[in-house]
Amino acid sequence: MEIGEGAMAEVVSSFWKNKKVFLTGHTGFKGSWLSLWLQNMGAELTGYALAPATNPSLFADAKLEKNMKSVIGDIRNYDLLKKTLTEFKPEIVIHMAAQPLVRYSYQNPIETYATNVMGTVHLLDSVRFSPSVRAVVNVTTDKCYENKEWIWPYRENESLGGYDPYSNSKACSELVTSAYRQSYFHPEKYSEHQVAIASARAGNVIGGGDWSTDRLIPDILRALKSSANLQIRNPRAIRPWQHVLEPLSGYLILAQNLHQQGARFSEAFNFGPAQEDVKDVEWITKKLLSELGSSKKIEIVKSDLHEAQYLSLDCAKAQAVLGWKPKWNVGLALSKIAEWNRAYDENPVGIDKMTLKQIEEYIRN
Ligand SMILES: NC(=O)c1ccc[n+]([C@@H]2O[C@H](COP(=O)([O-])OP(=O)(O)OC[C@H]3O[C@@H](n4cnc5c(N)ncnc54)[C@H](O)[C@@H]3O)[C@@H](O)[C@H]2O)c1
Repeated sequence: MEIGEGAMAEVVSSFWKNKKVFLTGHTGFKGSWLSLWLQNMGAELTGYALAPATNPSLFADAKLEKNMKSVIGDIRNYDLLKKTLTEFKPEIVIHMAAQPLVRYSYQNPIETYATNVMGTVHLLDSVRFSPSVRAVVNVTTDKCYENKEWIWPYRENESLGGYDPYSNSKACSELVTSAYRQSYFHPEKYSEHQVAIASARAGNVIGGGDWSTDRLIPDILRALKSSANLQIRNPRAIRPWQHVLEPLSGYLILAQNLHQQGARFSEAFNFGPAQEDVKDVEWITKKLLSELGSSKKIEIVKSDLHEAQYLSLDCAKAQAVLGWKPKWNVGLALSKIAEWNRAYDENPVGIDKMTLKQIEEYIRN
């Protein structure tokens, strides 16, 4: 692959105007931010996901249903997914629907594998029957690598693995992507099928509008509203933290390039933060508390389940090949969360405006 030459390195709003985009997982945290961004650029958007899993949810509060076709369906239901995808005739597919929680996956491994592995099979198989599709981005995770607990960041060509069912199911989703690409959408036969498929591995994503359980930022924000101590597990666990708009811009840039130049970008890409933003849990907690002006007491609790201690991503490839690079450092990301949260506490009904304001600031940055 030639380095960088001719790639679209920014999100190009005019590219997305009137583009037919099929997004799975649109009711979730990242899916809601991406839906709003795509709507704002004028994309014709259909989403496919379960109903929002949390109450409140950004999907409901930002009134996202108004400007898209939202299909509430299960990714494990192949027939419904295939029918919805083929009838909509999208050009671009972004696959984010997943069971994304590590701790939940320990309790519900079958559901996690069914959703994350067979869900990917169902999605890619549906693409086989949708001649309109030109580009597919499968969103996996930094956790798909075999974690060697070493200090070096993982590169796209390193071994896949995954200790817990969630991480492992995402490694499987990567393997499924690779098998479908080779079997049905081989880059060397691009002129015959005209489908370009890539996978995207992001870091630990943070931002306003996440109410999931067992995730650090929502756990901190919930604790601040209760009289109990703020409990954190694994204070020394190190993760590649990044604002939600960072990987989303990577997915959009990747999709643009797949659509415009096809097979050249049909590969896996990491989208993580700069190395200085790879921080431990305690650092993130204290920094967010200080952004929020809180003196809440932190209580360290022992973790009962295995979670990786050290994880970071090497993003040299995304930078060299796509021209993508991180814009907001982790400190800024945390201050954006505090700003978003203050706005939400004052007026939940107006949160679409604050979310859009942050998207526009990110684009201008
Ligand atoms: N949040 C992070 O830190 C992070 C980091 C790396 C990768 N990811 C990946 O990004 C994607 C989105 O994550 P998120 O944080 O927005 O999670 P989320 O839980 O907020 O959203 C998950 C979405 O998937 C949908 N979904 C779950 N099970 C489904 C099923 N059986 N059928 C149809 N839809 C289903 C949900 O309805 C929801 O729309 C996931 O693939 C996740 O693995 C997340």
